[in-house]
Amino acid sequence: MDDLPAIADLERRAKRRIPHFSWEYLASGTGTEEAVRHNLAALAAIKFVPQLMKGPLEPVTETEMFGVTYAAPIGIAPVGLTGLIWPGADELLAKAAASRQIPYVLSTVGTEKPEVAGPNAEGMGWFQLYPPRDDALRKDLIERAANSGFTALVVTADVPAASRRERQRKARVRVPPVIGPLLVAQSAIRPAWSREILRRGMPRFRGLEQYIDAATMKNTAGFVGANLGGTLSFEYLAKVREQWEGPLVVKGILDPDDAQRCVDTGADAVQVSNHGGRQLDGSIAAIDALPAIVDRIGGAVPVFFDSGVRDGIDVARALALGASFVFCGRAFMFGLAAIGDDGAKHAYDILHEGLVNVMAQTGCATLSELADRLV
Ligand SMILES: Cc1cc2nc3c(=O)[nH]c(=O)nc-3n(C[C@H](O)[C@H](O)[C@H](O)COP(=O)(O)O)c2cc1C
Repeated sequence: MDDLPAIADLERRAKRRIPHFSWEYLASGTGTEEAVRHNLAALAAIKFVPQLMKGPLEPVTETEMFGVTYAAPIGIAPVGLTGLIWPGADELLAKAAASRQIPYVLSTVGTEKPEVAGPNAEGMGWFQLYPPRDDALRKDLIERAANSGFTALVVTADVPAASRRERQRKARVRVPPVIGPLLVAQSAIRPAWSREILRRGMPRFRGLEQYIDAATMKNTAGFVGANLGGTLSFEYLAKVREQWEGPLVVKGILDPDDAQRCVDTGADAVQVSNHGGRQLDGSIAAIDALPAIVDRIGGAVPVFFDSGVRDGIDVARALALGASFVFCGRAFMFGLAAIGDDGAKHAYDILHEGLVNVMAQTGCATLSELADRLV
């Protein structure tokens, strides 16, 4: 894969290989997309001072989290409607995680059932929960995640309401996709994607299908909108805490007071994130929110990070600022869309190689030394 050595190469190739509506769904932010750009720019502004002449150096990236040893503090963030971006994505992501020994977070609105994705991840699976309004639905989803081998639960806090995604509206992203002239025309010029769709079938919210009353629900998107949004509160989080016995992560936190309340409510980790710039265009860059949250709660529980990571050096930047684990959404999906079956593995290899190289270039044998190399 020497012709695709960077995530940016995967991104360019992905755009050429998948239909326009899929690309718009994957790449878009919200509003003017200032938050997307700002995430990247704020990461790029973080610089290191190398310390040299340390002799042979073998950087170690293995990281223990929640009692499991991972190859590196790099994980696959939850992505919904994965199969629209690349058919069969959840199976491929789970298998990539198992092969590389990194966490893979299955979204509530992923396109595979937890019962299938969990075993494919071979112990590397975490489950992401969009908080259902209905108590019974929540209980059932959490129970299914536990029974399917998912070891951690990630509750997403930063979708208090559906976001305005103007590019997606213009591209008419629909769930399930509506087969009309637009879809057919856009798919026809993307033969690799179309071939995989024929093989794997149209993307569906397989994990949620059993709850949907076909007679009353026109489409699954309607069900998702009506049942999974706008419910989360600290009282609700306490109920989740009561029900889920394993490690509990709250994702999408930007405010130190929120982070503190998550810890007070029983969270085992907090994930600093602005959803990759997809929710609030005027959001603080996620990386700019990280230090204050690490300051407030870093001693009590680990702090995770995502939003804008496009290379191993970005992973190093977040780790240097106090993150214990770094997740990527788009980077892995660019890999799948660009390459297919082995794409997520290749994306990980790029991120990992980049991280190891930054450690070597800055003179860090361990991840914890990165903090001392910041300007
Ligand atoms: C296409 C797409 C779908 C996503 N779906 C979900 C989701 O279902 N649940 C969730 O918690 N986050 C979701 N996210 C947010 C990611 O988990 C993550 O926060 C974000 O992608 C990080 O930014 P990055 O793409 O720059 O790495 C989604 C992101 C993208 C790009």
